Amino acid sequence: MNTIAIFKNIQGSRIALIGAGFVGSSYAFALMNQGIVNNLTIIDVNEDKAKGDVLDLSHGKGFAPNPVHITYGTYEDCHNADLVVICAGANQQPGETRLDLVEKNLKIFKSIVDQVMASGFDGIFLVATNPVDILTYATWKYSGLPKERVIGSGTILDTARFRFSLGEYFKVSPLNVHAYIIGEHGDSELPVYSSSYIGATPIQTLIDRHDHFKQEDLDQIFVDVRDAAYKIIKSKGATYYGIAMGLARITKAILANENIILTVSAHLDGEFGEDHVYIGVPAIINRNGIRELVELDLSESEQKLFHKSANILKEILALHFDEVKPGS
Ligand SMILES: NC(=O)c1ccc[n+]([C@@H]2O[C@H](COP(=O)([O-])OP(=O)(O)OC[C@H]3O[C@@H](n4cnc5c(N)ncnc54)[C@H](O)[C@@H]3O)[C@@H](O)[C@H]2O)c1
Repeated sequence: MNTIAIFKNIQGSRIALIGAGFVGSSYAFALMNQGIVNNLTIIDVNEDKAKGDVLDLSHGKGFAPNPVHITYGTYEDCHNADLVVICAGANQQPGETRLDLVEKNLKIFKSIVDQVMASGFDGIFLVATNPVDILTYATWKYSGLPKERVIGSGTILDTARFRFSLGEYFKVSPLNVHAYIIGEHGDSELPVYSSSYIGATPIQTLIDRHDHFKQEDLDQIFVDVRDAAYKIIKSKGATYYGIAMGLARITKAILANENIILTVSAHLDGEFGEDHVYIGVPAIINRNGIRELVELDLSESEQKLFHKSANILKEILALHFDEVKPGS
């Protein structure tokens, strides 16, 4: 879609961004550079930082492909937003797992979501803060909005990393790699090799045909993808550009009513054999949020790993939400 076509779709669009740290401000920058939004309001407890970002970004207006109005805002400004994007919260410290952040960020989220809903907000929530699957479930519960209108970034970044690495390995553009990472955005996520294609050719066929392509190499690629955040955090303290572009991609899918398949954290209600959980799966995204989930034909071992991953999330959720019952 060219910038003129995007602009027609996003005309009048309003996004409220809550949390302008590394991830939030990179997302704002990506939105602006890609001409994805008309009106952007930034909210953060650190008022100085957010106001600085508003000014800094506003100075780039003349270089942006589409007109954009950026303001520092309060929760009242969420009332007519199409999308509220939450990147606020404590971030992952070196050696800390995403699930370690649960307690801290659930408290922050209760306060944020209550204030957003008190404004009269009736749009779509997009959550990036970790642990993203848990906090997306919490946002759904705290907001009372339909599940289709509460979306987490889930494994969009992990899938992008996987496609990038497979593209390097098979020497094709990541755009020609059709492969998904599903499950928790975290240590228990899994690659779905049984539905992985280069162009229209199953990856398994390429391995069978060519001696130089090996399953062991793909296994290592997955491990590197799964652990990429730890590596980046160790080297520069945080990850933000990749996720910011992933959030911008979901935003465009929503505002431009794209009906595109992206791996996001979505509520499962029996799909993939799970319920009462938000978890990374492929979903068709459009102006209404999640139109439907794309159920993959998982192999037996993939199904087992997915169930294990869902159960890890459900064990955490069960500590905070009575209706969640982890299975065996
Ligand atoms: N989903 C993903 O794939 C992914 C990838 C990278 C990072 N993340 C997560 O994104 C989150 C943000 O990361 P970051 O590096 O930008 O952190 P950061 O510390 O740079 O930014 C967090 C921001 O939230 C603000 N904040 C804290 N409490 C708030 C509140 N109650 N109301 C409003 N604002 C509040 C802080 O002032 C700060 O500006 C973390 O949870 C991180 O783990 C997710």
